[in-house]
Amino acid sequence: MGKKLIIGNWKMNLTIHEASLYVHKLADLVKIHQGVEVVLAPSHLALQPVSLQINYRQFKLAAQNFYWRDEGAFTGEVSAHQLRGLVQYALVGHSERRHIFNEHDKDTRHKVQAAYRNGIVPVLCVGETVSERVAGETRDVLHDQVTGGLANITSEEAAELVIAYEPVWAIGTGNNASPTEVRAAAKMIRTQLKHLFGEQVAESVRILYGGSVTLDTAASYLSIQGIDGLLIGGASLDAHVFSTIINNTHDQLKGIKERR
Ligand code: 13P
Repeated sequence: MGKKLIIGNWKMNLTIHEASLYVHKLADLVKIHQGVEVVLAPSHLALQPVSLQINYRQFKLAAQNFYWRDEGAFTGEVSAHQLRGLVQYALVGHSERRHIFNEHDKDTRHKVQAAYRNGIVPVLCVGETVSERVAGETRDVLHDQVTGGLANITSEEAAELVIAYEPVWAIGTGNNASPTEVRAAAKMIRTQLKHLFGEQVAESVRILYGGSVTLDTAASYLSIQGIDGLLIGGASLDAHVFSTIINNTHDQLKGIKERR
């Protein structure tokens, strides 16, 4: 089990004040672990104040969304160019963006490119709906979302990429995917990456699982071969729960190392 990446996606939760209290609490509870990279994804509003509060050795930041043009007359939007230097990661194609805000693979493709252009690592989110799973279309959906999102990027860029497998039916529902389903999906994604960029790049892409992850289920996903971390929604909003997931991950890694 190599280094793990754990991202807390706060979605449209926490005011600036609440975000500040949360980060203060989390910083006390989380130790700095070499083997665990922790990333917080607050709302755009809280990004800047949180950036002044955190120690970047302890936490990194991610944007939940952005518009792909660098600047211009796009009222209400924030660009990757404006987020440059503030965040190290950005979510792209989250299922809530795809299904509530009608974003398509064309949008995710533009966003992936804009993130790279601005020195931000994209976290491309992919996953099938329940009806697609029932119809046996999971492989095709993942294929289309991975291929559609990654057109026109170089192998060097792809090697840095993070992909989050988040089945739509598992997000915020309590119906988390089984480790067997997650392992199979991660394998499909890596096979597709191998076709696109070759074996070496496919192996270096980090693949995360997200969807109703809890304190009780986190460890079982982290021990799946081919899963490099977690994208956590609801459970990341409680500083105590989130810090316990992070510290447990460290203990899990340490236990494996010691048994070797
Ligand atoms: P939940 O953990 O609340 O299911 O959310 C998952 C998610 O969408 C993270 O991006």
